[in-house]
Amino acid sequence: MKNLHIIEHPLIKSKITQIRRKETATKMFKELVSEISSLMCYEITRDLEVEEIEIETPVQKTIGYHIKGDDLVLVPILRAGLGMIEGIQNLIPNAKTGHIGVYRDHDTLQPVEYLCKLPLLMENRNVIVLDPMLATGGSAVKAIDILKEHNVKSIRLACLVGCPEGVEFLHKHHPDVAIYLAAMDEKLNENGYIVPGLGDAGDRLFGTQ
Ligand code: PRP
Ligand code: URA
Repeated sequence: MKNLHIIEHPLIKSKITQIRRKETATKMFKELVSEISSLMCYEITRDLEVEEIEIETPVQKTIGYHIKGDDLVLVPILRAGLGMIEGIQNLIPNAKTGHIGVYRDHDTLQPVEYLCKLPLLMENRNVIVLDPMLATGGSAVKAIDILKEHNVKSIRLACLVGCPEGVEFLHKHHPDVAIYLAAMDEKLNENGYIVPGLGDAGDRLFGTQ
């Protein structure tokens, strides 16, 4: 499917398996989410712009490359997206961070926006939206609607676990947004949870279940 990247790698596969396990406790869950996000970052940023810079090695002058990271904004969808920040920021320290708070109403499964705090001058920014779960896709579509109101330059969506329903909904509303997943699961169950999934990502990250 166009604009869908499922990042296949043995390290990602085994770490995703560990976060799926119901006995994986909060500390380990948090560390694994961060590590998987770092590993995914390699693929998500493959076409990031670099600029040439002249540097000097101990031997001679040469041309090197510098990531134009300061036009990059990471936007976690609160709460669970927060768990993906550190792993990516470790690799791109000059990326800025904005926050969008959206929660899914438990009864209707509809997204409810409660916070939007973005860096200034979003017009020229390339954005990576972060959320571990792409279930119905409602939360991601809502967050991307908000970002488009700020006329950002480009948007990518990085999630750990997705499902066909969420991917389809996202593509229908935002066909221009590339989706990166570490795993594509089977389906949604009758409660709107991804199957087999990993449960409620926010609750598992913050120990609130
Ligand atoms: C979870 C998850 C996504 C959303 C996915 O958040 O982190 O944001 O559900 O579901 P959707 O694709 O059907 O919208 P939740 O609403 O549980 O909020 P939380 O992160 O604060 O726990
Ligand atoms: N949100 C989650 O955290 N998990 C799911 O399976 C679906 C939505």
